[in-house]
Amino acid sequence: MDGHEFVRSVRDLATRRGLRAARSAWRGRRTDARSLPARGAERARVPGSVAGVEPLPGGGVVRFARSELRILVASGGAVFWGWDGADPEPSYALAGTAPEADPRAQLEPDKDCGWRVVSERVTVEVSRHGAVEVRTPGGVVLRRDLPPRWWEPVRGGPARWVQRTEVAADARFFGLGGRSAGPRLPSGEYSLWNTDPRGSFGPGDDPLSITMPVQVVVADAGTHLAFYDNTWEGRVVLREGAEGEGSGHDRPGTSVLRMDGGPLRCWVVVGTPARVLARWSRLTGPAAVPPSWALGPQHARWGFGNQEEVRRVVAGYRERNLPLSAVHLDIDHYDGHRVFTVDRRRFPDLPALAGELRDAGVRTVSIVDPAVKAEPGNAVYDSGRRAGAFVRDARGREVRGEVWPGACAYPDFTDPQVRRWWGRWYEERLAQGFSGVWHDMNEPVSFAPFGDMTLPRSARHALEGRGGDHREAHNVYGLTMARAGYEALRRLRPRERPFLFTRSGWVGMQRYGGTWSGDVASGWPGLRASLALVVGLGLCGVPYSGPDVGGFDAVPSPELYLRWFQLGAYLPLFRTHSAIDAGRREPWEFGPEVLRHARAALVERERLRPYFVTLAHLARLTGAPYVRPVWWGAPEDRALRECDDAFLLGDALLVAPVLEAGVERRTVRLPRGRWYDTATGRAHHGPGQVEVAAPLSRVPVLARAGSVVPVRGADGRLELEVWAPVEGRKGGGLVVPDQGDGWARAEVERYATRLTKGRVVVKQIRGDGTAAPRRRVRVRGLP
Ligand code: GLC
Repeated sequence: MDGHEFVRSVRDLATRRGLRAARSAWRGRRTDARSLPARGAERARVPGSVAGVEPLPGGGVVRFARSELRILVASGGAVFWGWDGADPEPSYALAGTAPEADPRAQLEPDKDCGWRVVSERVTVEVSRHGAVEVRTPGGVVLRRDLPPRWWEPVRGGPARWVQRTEVAADARFFGLGGRSAGPRLPSGEYSLWNTDPRGSFGPGDDPLSITMPVQVVVADAGTHLAFYDNTWEGRVVLREGAEGEGSGHDRPGTSVLRMDGGPLRCWVVVGTPARVLARWSRLTGPAAVPPSWALGPQHARWGFGNQEEVRRVVAGYRERNLPLSAVHLDIDHYDGHRVFTVDRRRFPDLPALAGELRDAGVRTVSIVDPAVKAEPGNAVYDSGRRAGAFVRDARGREVRGEVWPGACAYPDFTDPQVRRWWGRWYEERLAQGFSGVWHDMNEPVSFAPFGDMTLPRSARHALEGRGGDHREAHNVYGLTMARAGYEALRRLRPRERPFLFTRSGWVGMQRYGGTWSGDVASGWPGLRASLALVVGLGLCGVPYSGPDVGGFDAVPSPELYLRWFQLGAYLPLFRTHSAIDAGRREPWEFGPEVLRHARAALVERERLRPYFVTLAHLARLTGAPYVRPVWWGAPEDRALRECDDAFLLGDALLVAPVLEAGVERRTVRLPRGRWYDTATGRAHHGPGQVEVAAPLSRVPVLARAGSVVPVRGADGRLELEVWAPVEGRKGGGLVVPDQGDGWARAEVERYATRLTKGRVVVKQIRGDGTAAPRRRVRVRGLP
C-alpha cells in the first residue's frame, strides 16, 4: 500500500467509524426515549417535623412526618446516616460487612437542637426538621447537612434529591475522585458521571473517568471526609466560603449535591488527615499492593508496529543503561482491535518475546478493553453470548456500541457470573506472557459524535441480582470490571500479587488496583492537571496512580517532556505513554541533554525503590497515600491548603516539580520544621516560603529533618538515608522491606533518630526496646 492509499484508507475508516458511531448514538437515544419516559409531574417532599425516636446501638432512628433518618456511629468513629430507611448495605464502596456499631453511642434528646449522638470522636446532632450536624468532641461544627428535599415522579420511578451542606468559611474542598482542577477544588460545578473526555483533557475539563461523591474538607476546626454512597448520576456545586472582613459575618462554604435517583445516605469520618484516611481505608478496603516491579519505570505506547519495535525500544533502554521495569502493549497488538486476541502477523510469538524480556528484567503489560467485537466467530463474543454475559436493553436485545473494533457488545460486570466468565479470559493474557493488565475504555465508552459517549441509560444490568439500569450501574462499570480482573488474576496466579490499573473506577477501586490519568493533554496545563489528579485520588483512597509522561495527544517540547518525566519519577505509577500520532516518548528522542537528565531521574527513582515499596505497604496498612498534599501534617496551616504545585511523598520528602516553561528557580511553601534541599544539603525552615534552584537537571526535592528514607545502595542492598534531626527533636520513620511479589506478610521496621552533641543517633525500635539498626545508615544534612 503506498502512502496515499494508506492515508485514504485511514480517512475512510475514520468516516466509516464516524458514521457507525453516529448511527449507534441515534439508536441509543431512541432506546432511551422508548424505555425511559420523561419524568412528568413530580411531588416535592421534605422530612417535616420529628414525630418519634427509637434509640438503637450506635445511634437510632429519628422519625419525621415524611421520612425517617437512621444514624449509626460505628466503632472507630465513622458516622453513617441514611434517609428513607437507607442502610449501609448493599454498597459497591464498602469492603464487605459494614462496620459494627459503637455500643456506647446512643441517640439522646438535646434541649437545644432536638436529638444527638455523642461518641468519643464525634458528635452528631439532628434538628427537629432534619438538619444533621457533625461536630468535633469540643463542639465545633464541621459540617451541617440541611434537611434534604426529594422530588418523586407522580407516575412512579426514582426520586431525585438535593442535599445542601454548609462548612466553615475557611474550609477548602478536595477529592471528588480524579479531577483536573485542583488539588484544592475551586468553586464550581462538578459532575458525577464517569466520562471519557473525548480526545484529551486539561485543567478544569470535567468530568473525567473517575468521579466519586467523596469530599475531603479541610478547615481550621478539623478535617473530615464525607461520602454520599450513591452510584447514580449527579452534580455537586461547591462554593468556598468567605470570612467577613470588618462586618464580622462569615459566609459559610457550601456544597449542593443533586442526584437523579438512588439512596440518600452518607458516611462521615473526622480526625487528622492520617486518621481520616485510615478509617476510610477500613471502610472501603485496603489498597492492593502492586508487585515491586510495578513501582519501577515503565514504557507504553499506542502504535508499537510489531514485536521487533518493542524489542528495539527495550534494547534502546538497555544500550543506554536506562532502567526499565515494564513495557505496555496497547490495542494495536490485538487482531483487529479485538480484546483477548493477538495479531500474529505483527506479533508472531508474544510468549517468546515476553519471556525474553522478562529474562532481561522487563515485564509486559497488556491493555484490556471491555467491549467485545460483536461478530459471530469471534470466540470471546460467541462464548459471551452463550454465557448470557452482555448488557441488554429493556426489550431484551443486546446493546451495541461502537469502539475500536467496530460494533461491540458490553459484558455486564455487575453480574457475579459474568465477572467469572470474563475472568477466565485472563488465562489467555497470562499464556501470552503478560504480567499485568491495563483496563481501558471502561467508563464504558461507546463512540458518539454527539451526546454522551456511553451506553443508553435504559440498558439493563444485574446489579448483583437486584436488577436495575445503566443510570445506576454506569459509575461502577469500571469498578466491577476491575473486580473481575483482580479476582481472576488471584485465581490464576495465586502466588503473585496482581498488577492491574484501570481508567475508570469508583469508591473502593483501590481494593483491586490503581489507575492512571487517562488522556491528559500534552501541554504545560496538562502537566499541572496530572498532578492534581494524583493528589485528589489519593485523598479519596486510591493511592496508586500517575500520568502519561509527556502527555497523551501531541508531541511535547523537550523541556516539557523532561519536566513531566521528572515529576513522574516521584509518582507511584511512573509510565511514559502517547497516542498513536503523538510522537515517541523514549528518553533519547529529545536530544542528549534531556537524555542525561532523564537518566538521572530514572536512576534516582530506582535508588528510591525501597521507599516506594515501603509507601505501597503503608498505603495498604494505614490508608495514607504515597502522594499527599503539603497540608497533610498541618491542615491548620491555611497557606498550605492553597498550595497546588508541590506534594509530600510519604512523610519524608517534599517534591516541588517544575510546572512551567523556562523556570530554573521556584518558590516552595514549606510546612513547619527544618527541610533539607536534597541536592545541595542546604537547610530551610518552615512554615513559610523559600526559593530554591530548579535547574533543568532536576526538580527540587526537600527532606524533612529527622526522617529515614530507605534507599537502594550501590551494592543493591537496602540502606537507610537519615536526614539529621534538629537538636533536641526526635525523628524517625518506618521501613517495609521488599518481600518479593507474593503474599508474604509485610514486616514493618521502626526507626527513631535524634541528634546528640552534633552526632546523629539512629535506633531500631524492637518490641519494648531499641537496638542498633542492622542496616547500613548514611547520615545526611550535617554541616
Ligand atoms: C484510550 C486510552 C489510551 C490508549 C488508547 C488506545 O484513549 O486512554 O491510553 O492508548 O485508548 O487504546
